[in-house]
Amino acid sequence: MPDPLFSIDGKVALVTGGTSGIGQMIARGLVRRGVKTYITGRDAETTGALAETFSTEEKGTCLGMAADLSRADEPERLAAELAGREERLHILVNNAGAGEAASLPDVSVKDWDTVMDVNLKAPFFLVQKLLPLLKKASSAEDPARIINIGSIGGLHIPNWDAFPYGASKAAIHHLTRALTKRLGDSHITVNAIAPGPFPSRLTDTSSDAVKQSVRTYIPLGRAGEPEDIEGLVVFLSARAGAFVNGCTIPLDGGYIAAL
Ligand SMILES: NC(=O)c1ccc[n+]([C@@H]2O[C@H](COP(=O)([O-])OP(=O)(O)OC[C@H]3O[C@@H](n4cnc5c(N)ncnc54)[C@H](OP(=O)(O)O)[C@@H]3O)[C@@H](O)[C@H]2O)c1
Repeated sequence: MPDPLFSIDGKVALVTGGTSGIGQMIARGLVRRGVKTYITGRDAETTGALAETFSTEEKGTCLGMAADLSRADEPERLAAELAGREERLHILVNNAGAGEAASLPDVSVKDWDTVMDVNLKAPFFLVQKLLPLLKKASSAEDPARIINIGSIGGLHIPNWDAFPYGASKAAIHHLTRALTKRLGDSHITVNAIAPGPFPSRLTDTSSDAVKQSVRTYIPLGRAGEPEDIEGLVVFLSARAGAFVNGCTIPLDGGYIAAL
């Protein structure tokens, strides 16, 4: 018998960027707990195939939707597509993210725009366009939940260049607080998770020096694992997390605390 304090069975969730890394960890964890979970990725075929795998292997249903969130028109189109399929959205996880490989002298305007569009602009407009569905899922006893995936990169200045990325993540943490103030009346909680290093495509491109230096400074001496992010998202989405609102929670083994 599942503990009702942590039960999320029967809810509906959207996880952007559910095809890889942290988003995939979150999506699988939600599907495992009986949440009807929509995942997005840029390629319809691979997104659909992964959703089918989750549906087969886990308890709940997973469905794929294609979206390129670097495009300004995509949040509205994605929200309309979801509204065509669902009346309510209980959990929105703004996870899709992009980083830039270039250092200060080489950052291009295109790098800047892509990072800001995917990491900051799309989450805001997804919230705006999905508000009607979130409001229909919300009540004083069981608020709808918005979870923005930020980064420790938005909480400190690393020893390597990550200019648009760090700025986009600091901004999504700020946006989280601003939305918290505005959406409380609608019984919608808004929180951000600021992960430390987790294995993903994004971090695979980091140099060994960066990976090593990050791990050296984590008091727990390891990178994040699927259960770490899954556990926090389940907590924030369940009754147990219903009064947590407006927080940016570092999920980093103590990295930020120990700086
Ligand atoms: N991994 C870490 O150590 C770490 C640490 C702190 C914060 N984060 C944050 O965690 C989130 C997930 O990152 P990750 O590390 O798991 O990276 P990842 O493995 O590269 O996954 C990124 C996800 O975002 C999607 N995505 C990328 N560009 C997109 C675009 N233009 N339109 C739509 N979707 C797009 C990808 O989907 P497709 O490629 O299928 O389109 C993929 O599902 C990001 O917000 C990242 O900043 C990660």
